[in-house]
Amino acid sequence: MKLELANNVYYVGIIDWDLRNFHGHSTHRGSTYNSYLVIDDKIALIDNVKAPFTNQFIKNIKEVIGDLSKIDYLICNHLEGDHTGSLPTLVKLCPNAQIVTSEKGKAGFLRMYKEDWDIKAVKEGDTINLGTRTLTFVPVPMIHWPDSMMTYMTPDNILFSNDAFGQHYASSKRLDSENPIHEIMEEAAKYYANIVMHVSLLIKKTLQKVTESLKLKIDMICPSHGVVWKDHIQDILAAYTKWANRETKEKILIIYDTMWHSTEKMAFALAEGIQEEGVEVKIYNLTLTDNSDIMTEVLDARGLLIGSPTINNGMFPTVGGFLTYLKGLKPPAKYACAFGSYGWNSKNTMKQINANLKEAMIPEILEPITFNFTPDPEELDKCKEFGKVFAKKIKEGGKI
Ligand code: FEO
Repeated sequence: MKLELANNVYYVGIIDWDLRNFHGHSTHRGSTYNSYLVIDDKIALIDNVKAPFTNQFIKNIKEVIGDLSKIDYLICNHLEGDHTGSLPTLVKLCPNAQIVTSEKGKAGFLRMYKEDWDIKAVKEGDTINLGTRTLTFVPVPMIHWPDSMMTYMTPDNILFSNDAFGQHYASSKRLDSENPIHEIMEEAAKYYANIVMHVSLLIKKTLQKVTESLKLKIDMICPSHGVVWKDHIQDILAAYTKWANRETKEKILIIYDTMWHSTEKMAFALAEGIQEEGVEVKIYNLTLTDNSDIMTEVLDARGLLIGSPTINNGMFPTVGGFLTYLKGLKPPAKYACAFGSYGWNSKNTMKQINANLKEAMIPEILEPITFNFTPDPEELDKCKEFGKVFAKKIKEGGKI
């Protein structure tokens, strides 16, 4: 079915209904690989799709223009396989088309596909005229890879933003306003937390560049995943500004695993104290919850309490895995503390957790709280009291 987003701008992407894991990121609502066809004196195809969906993708394009050899430009905003997987087939079917990508993308294509394609590398501000429309290229390194760029089209004022502003969200309705906004914003937050949270400073600069220095007027944002932003552009820009500023709220996450429920008892006692101070708290057992779902909550949490029992003189494996993921994503939390029950000695476990929290660049890491084997009622009271103290810090020190 032809889907015209604006005059002669067609959606020709793919809906991946079954996707439940995108390189480690859980995708409960599936995803889409978006591609856009612009028809003018010249025809440009912006981004393409994951390799297994190539046949359906070709069919989508044919429904609009019939013959793929009419395509003049294959714009590749980003090298990753979910946006270039069908390029080897496209190159054969579009003999008149010029591949266009960033300078880093050009180098990456040679490594990725080992093909001697004729690729035009563009830099910031370079343009391609399609007839009545002009494409302007804006490299945005690290959003998501070093090669990433955006393409801005006038006079329609459409920003083809690639991974930025994306959401893993499968729906036959392609516009923001046609879907429940809370679902889309939830997926946009999860996407940000898991894909680009660690480059928040770059996101901030990019937002400033797009809206202040380049002063791009944006009437539509066409990302490479999820819905097209049209009626909620200001909402997603405001959300990105908030996330990029690493704004946190009075919220504490208790993230733990447990062997014989002792560390779990400590987790619940900590939560009791936090609740008594009126601060929001959420508890996640790492055996039961996916890391990428927890990361969505990490996006605006001011405090993290990480609990682990000791096994083989170190952290529980699920805790180690979570912390490895966390430190790479550089959470905005201001305070953190380790806790846990142990059999013989917890020194190394607590040291390992703290080392990870330090690498995650959390400004203040408090002295760990640990107890031998099953915590008794007095020790659980101490946990509760510590929960109160930690909650007070969260309330008082929000400005750090
Ligand atoms: Fe959607 Fe970085 O690829």
